Amino acid sequence: MLFVILTSRNAREFVLGQIDRAFAQDPYAGYRILREHAPVCRQPDGSYVLTRYEDIRQVMSDSVSYSSDKHIDFKPRFGDSPLFEHHTTSLVFNDPPVHTRVRRLLGPFFAARTLRQMEGSIGRMVDQLLTQAGLRGQIDIVKDFALVIPLNLIGDLLGVPYEEREPLQRWANLILGALEPVRTASQLAEGNRAVEEFKDYLRDLITRKRARPPGAVDIDVLWALLEASEAGDGLTELEILHNAIFMLNAGHDTTGSLIANGIDLLLRHPESRARLVAEPALMKSAVEEMLRFESPLQIGNRRALRDSLIGGHAIPAGTFLHLVIAAGNRDPLQFPDPEGFDVGREPNRHLAFAHGIHTCAGNSVARIEAQIAFTKILARFPNFSRAGPTIRPHRTRFRVVEELRVDLNA
Ligand code: HEM
Repeated sequence: MLFVILTSRNAREFVLGQIDRAFAQDPYAGYRILREHAPVCRQPDGSYVLTRYEDIRQVMSDSVSYSSDKHIDFKPRFGDSPLFEHHTTSLVFNDPPVHTRVRRLLGPFFAARTLRQMEGSIGRMVDQLLTQAGLRGQIDIVKDFALVIPLNLIGDLLGVPYEEREPLQRWANLILGALEPVRTASQLAEGNRAVEEFKDYLRDLITRKRARPPGAVDIDVLWALLEASEAGDGLTELEILHNAIFMLNAGHDTTGSLIANGIDLLLRHPESRARLVAEPALMKSAVEEMLRFESPLQIGNRRALRDSLIGGHAIPAGTFLHLVIAAGNRDPLQFPDPEGFDVGREPNRHLAFAHGIHTCAGNSVARIEAQIAFTKILARFPNFSRAGPTIRPHRTRFRVVEELRVDLNA
């Protein structure tokens, strides 16, 4: 059964895996009904969908009781496949101690000093993109702006040569798309092919990096993981490949969505845009509000390792949990006027970057990219206008914009 209209009466029968296109296009009214009438909603397969802020935060905070490891959950979904290998070998889907080891290695790349250095290069990149875009007048904000910024930044971070970045976007889409609650056999086949192609590409890149004379290799995340492995910290080649793939995917698709969704929000809320143009100092809180209002990663998952109580419901050990971040981020018990888009909202303790040990490692990078992108586009083209509809694919886990044409010089 596909859910066409979710009501207070049928809320308990909601099935995440059967969400239809209309629900996915604008899920927030449905999530409100769930939060109010079935906040801990049992699924036919025994899993639970959580939509209240406090329940989601409780689960994210407690990595001892709730596991991120996906070996059990992904076996029936992916079988023995490249997608299974990938999604069970990247740090986001690992528990300590494997998770701790990889996370520690990534730490220096997100330190405050490194981030300050990135700011200048992001600013120059955004300026260049806007100059080219301004000459064209009308652009697709997704392909010509929102995705280009994080793709280049994450490409630099991982040491992927500029001219080799073109396929990364397609691979990311196919690999992350396989995590959607609803997916087709051909999506799975394409996702598996993308993992293999990505691995082959990285193996070749590593060989080329190793062939360079000593001292001629820039320090990047991929190289740091290789060096740590050679120094005996125990990361296997496969772990290095999958964590690099994850970083590339996690780092650019989500940030691209944040920027594209943010532009869509500013078009839908002209009063907020005018306020930001008049008060650019509000940019930090505006980006937080964009993250809350249209969270790029809408649904996360955990598995209960022990019996527990969530929102008054007894959850047995072994239960799979769907954490609907997008619903928690509009919970009125946490956010006054949660359906209102308020660029000055303070405090704003949203869960868009999760919480606890798996809090997004790249959250500061994503925030800086978005703040610079919005500051510069509003300074140069404060009156940009819509030149087409906001086109979204049928996706539930990620809040993606596929195309959004805007006129910059309006
Ligand atoms: C707006 C952009 C972004 C959003 C909304 C986002 C969201 C998230 C969320 C919700 C998680 C935790 C998932 C879970 O616990 O199940 C996560 C993890 C992660 N993200 Fe991001 N992310 C963004 C950008 C980035 C960027 C730019 C990078 C890297 C440059 C990055 C790297 C990571 C990594 C490495 C993890 C795994 C952390 C861990 O498991 O310890 N993300 N992200």
